[in-house]
Amino acid sequence: MNAKILGMIAILMYNVRICQSKNYSNFTLYSTTPTEADHLKFLQNLDKQKYIDMVFWKKPYKLYEDVQFIVSPADKDMFLERANHFKLKTEVMLPDVERAFKDQEVRKYLRLKTETFTWDYYHTLEDIYQWLADIAVKYPHIVELQSIGKSAEGREIYAMCIRKRGNKYKVIVESGIHGNEWIAVEFVTYLLDQLVVQNDTKHWRMHELGKKYDWYIIPIINPDGYVYSQTVDRLWRRNRRVTNTGIGVDLNRNFDYNFGKYGTSHDPKDDYFCGSHPFSEPETRVLADFITDKKHNLRFYFSFHAYGQKVIIPFADRIKHIENYGEMENFGKQAILKIYKMFGTKYSVGTTYDTLGLRISGNSASWVKKTHGVRYVFTFLLRDNGTYGYALPPAQILPTCEESIAGLTELMIAKPRRVRLNLFNRAQTLRGTVLSLFCTVNFILLLLLK
Ligand SMILES: *[C@@H]1O[C@H](CO)[C@@H](O)[C@H](O)[C@H]1NC(C)=O
Ligand SMILES: *[C@@H]1O[C@H](CO)[C@@H](O)[C@H](O)[C@H]1NC(C)=O
Ligand SMILES: *[C@@H]1O[C@H](CO)[C@@H](O)[C@H](O)[C@H]1NC(C)=O
Ligand SMILES: *[C@@H]1O[C@H](CO)[C@@H](O)[C@H](O)[C@H]1NC(C)=O
Ligand SMILES: [Zn+2]
Repeated sequence: MNAKILGMIAILMYNVRICQSKNYSNFTLYSTTPTEADHLKFLQNLDKQKYIDMVFWKKPYKLYEDVQFIVSPADKDMFLERANHFKLKTEVMLPDVERAFKDQEVRKYLRLKTETFTWDYYHTLEDIYQWLADIAVKYPHIVELQSIGKSAEGREIYAMCIRKRGNKYKVIVESGIHGNEWIAVEFVTYLLDQLVVQNDTKHWRMHELGKKYDWYIIPIINPDGYVYSQTVDRLWRRNRRVTNTGIGVDLNRNFDYNFGKYGTSHDPKDDYFCGSHPFSEPETRVLADFITDKKHNLRFYFSFHAYGQKVIIPFADRIKHIENYGEMENFGKQAILKIYKMFGTKYSVGTTYDTLGLRISGNSASWVKKTHGVRYVFTFLLRDNGTYGYALPPAQILPTCEESIAGLTELMIAKPRRVRLNLFNRAQTLRGTVLSLFCTVNFILLLLLK
């Protein structure tokens, strides 16, 4: 063997090594709640200064709002020492993030056997696409699977159209815009199953909604990010387009709505990078074109994400509420009450600013609301509340889907109703003393007046 070949082998081995999956072995998932300005500053600095190898799962924006982040094993001691210095109490949610990711089983679906696609585990893109195709073959009279464009890496982006009667009003459902939010994708496939496959009396409400509207479901708008999250880096959020400054743009900051202003980054390495200009990414253009094509009589627009347990109302870039905010909030409250009644999962409702304490621009939902004046536009952040975060165990997929269907149907059939707010202090259930002392009213238990 000559030196040249040896050299090539060495390069190959090196590439294999760097292509290996990102390993979060022994990373710790922490949760904490800043209760003083110093806490907030300390946490925000961790992100800015990068002197500790850590990643926020939920960023710090305001006091009394919990945050989660993971810290590498090498920097754990330094982190704890700094946190201690600021008297910030932290709680370990997961001692080994890689382990929790490993528990997120992705299992094979048996081609053509549509009933073997179940919500007890996660699915690959390939299997989801296969299942969509199988459903389309099985129910040709009510569904149509349509490729609406291609991703940066050339993968198909699909929309499933469910037309039972040819109705006047339309519903568009979008999910999987962020690669790492697997539960959102699972939920939307479940929704599709409820609309198309399940038709027994137990599911009559969804069934009615299936008949009442024409549905357009885009399960995975960011297939490249989803695949990358499943094969290389579990936490990958953006798309995978290679630019001369880096790889990937946060697609939910890339829409042409108040572009680049709030809650985003102009740094190409940042998870929240908005791109060089609005609609710089093929995926956002595909989605926007599809929506524009369906804009007439578009009654509902839903965008599914994870995690945080919130129902979010536009606009994401404002503090002030818009004109039909009250109506949407009222319906949202009825929905979260329904969700709560099912398994006790606590959601909150409001704008991005109300619920998270930040403003964002360039997201799809605000663009839809602004550009097409759609009356009901909602963003859902599904489970959980930060106990597992992105490492949501497979055992929670089905309950998440069930409660979310209950909430979604409630929201869609809601009539304006008077709701009495009964303040419910989440602190009662908390473990940490600091948390229980300072945790503000974060959840509102609503009692409907009959
Ligand atoms: C991550 O590293 C740990 C410890 O070195 C190892 O046991 C595990 O197999 C690795 N996981 C992956 C997915 O490479
Ligand atoms: C993770 O921690 C375990 C137990 O402390 C240790 O045996 C293992 O080598 C660590 N793995 C890595 C990749 O640091
Ligand atoms: C439910 O599905 C069965 C079997 O596919 C079909 O025969 C029946 O007509 C459907 N019922 C309704 C109400 O669509
Ligand atoms: C998050 O949800 C879990 C399970 O429902 C609950 O036990 C826990 O108290 C909640 N945590 C917070 C901070 O609300
Ligand atoms: Zn998201």
